[in-house]
Amino acid sequence: MTDIKPPMEPFRIKMVEPLHATSRRERETLLKQSGFNVFGIPAEKVTIDLLTDSGTSAMSDDQWAGLMTGDESYAGARNFFHLEEAVRSIFGFSHVIPTHQGRAAERVLFGSIVKKGDSVPSNIHFDTTRANIEVLEARAEDLAAAAAYDPDAELPFKGDMDLAKLKKFIDRKGAGKVPLVMLTVTNNSGGGQPVSLKNIKETSEVCAHYGIPFFLDACRFAENAWFIKKREKAYAKKSVLEIAQEMFSYADGATMSGKKDALVNIGGFVTLDDDALAERIKNNLIISEGFPTYGGLAGRDLEAMARGLKEVLDEDYLEHRTAQVAYLGGLVAKAGVPVFKPFGGHAVYLLADRFLPHIRRAQYPGWALTVALYREYGIRAVEIGGVMFGQKTGKGKAEVFPELELVRLAIPRRVYTASHLRYVADAIIDLHMNRDKVRGLRIVRESPFLRHFTARLEEL
Ligand code: F0G
Repeated sequence: MTDIKPPMEPFRIKMVEPLHATSRRERETLLKQSGFNVFGIPAEKVTIDLLTDSGTSAMSDDQWAGLMTGDESYAGARNFFHLEEAVRSIFGFSHVIPTHQGRAAERVLFGSIVKKGDSVPSNIHFDTTRANIEVLEARAEDLAAAAAYDPDAELPFKGDMDLAKLKKFIDRKGAGKVPLVMLTVTNNSGGGQPVSLKNIKETSEVCAHYGIPFFLDACRFAENAWFIKKREKAYAKKSVLEIAQEMFSYADGATMSGKKDALVNIGGFVTLDDDALAERIKNNLIISEGFPTYGGLAGRDLEAMARGLKEVLDEDYLEHRTAQVAYLGGLVAKAGVPVFKPFGGHAVYLLADRFLPHIRRAQYPGWALTVALYREYGIRAVEIGGVMFGQKTGKGKAEVFPELELVRLAIPRRVYTASHLRYVADAIIDLHMNRDKVRGLRIVRESPFLRHFTARLEEL
């Protein structure tokens, strides 16, 4: 496995933060205290934290310098205009409405356009977009092409929308019941897979045909644009900025979590052209997020986001970013560890049911893998499987599990070096060789929704 080359970091380090070593005994105690739930472990007790790529980025010197230029005026802070300029230059929409993070953007958008009984299709909704639709008593519909659910299909654009399914769905519901169509780029809940420009354009054409607004969930738009450059022939010679601009040119607007591809620790926005809808969104925003030129953020946060949006389009950065994911994925795959293929833009996804074939789905193999990774090596990952998405269909009825039982190793942006990833790969390979020792779990306490955050479990 040494012939897989570590990607060289396209940055050097001028500020460092210590990693904390813990003993196995300490981790064992912490697991018991947290109810075998890694969300309950204090971050300082984690050696390598791959729980999420959201809000965990390292900011650049230019972003940190930007914080000092924060204009903390209530209305019309200069940093808002910097953000507006940055968003307009990439996304191309006239209205830029800041929010404190992605789900707030979703809430103010959906709250202004979605009614009870409506349906909102997407390739695969992220949990927060789904929740923000369902809370309005509307339906969130996943219409990704079938390959999205096949971890072995080595296809370039497994995030694509199934257009035939989309048309059929709109015909069945009636266009009047579909207030907007979303497309998640990259498709986080389906392995971080990109959507092709061809598919974005065709989805847009279907929406235009029915007169339905089309929005991108743009959290990882730069990673998506990079994959288009690398995988979609016609775009090899275009810059990532040009590709991103073309992606957005087919949409009516976008929601954004700046915590991903704006390289900040907090922030988001919704952007669109429709004046009347923008006014409703701004009215909605004022109730909970704040005045439309700050939307729940400090002036300094707006500045960091404006600067991050430009940095994220740097092609050396994007090449390294995706190479890091492929490096970790390549090392473990070569050693026979079952992984979702191809590797996505922000994470490696382990196929937990194949990794731990002796643990039944009802005993949560993905969760067991997260517990083992923490206990043995101090690594924190997130289960995207039976605990996160399992549904009990009624009293006494068996639990229904999602198609895929995954563990996501999300790589924070610009935080870990190749040697950190090598440590993670070696740990996973070691665990795979000792997989027989990993035990399943049962849930002893859970909340009625988003139970994975707070559930308590015990080992069998
Ligand atoms: N959409 C997608 C595709 C996401 O991945 C996320 C967040 C959101 C929307 C919501 O953004 O967190 O700023 O409110 N994903 C994080 C993750 C939490 O770990 O994948 P937010």
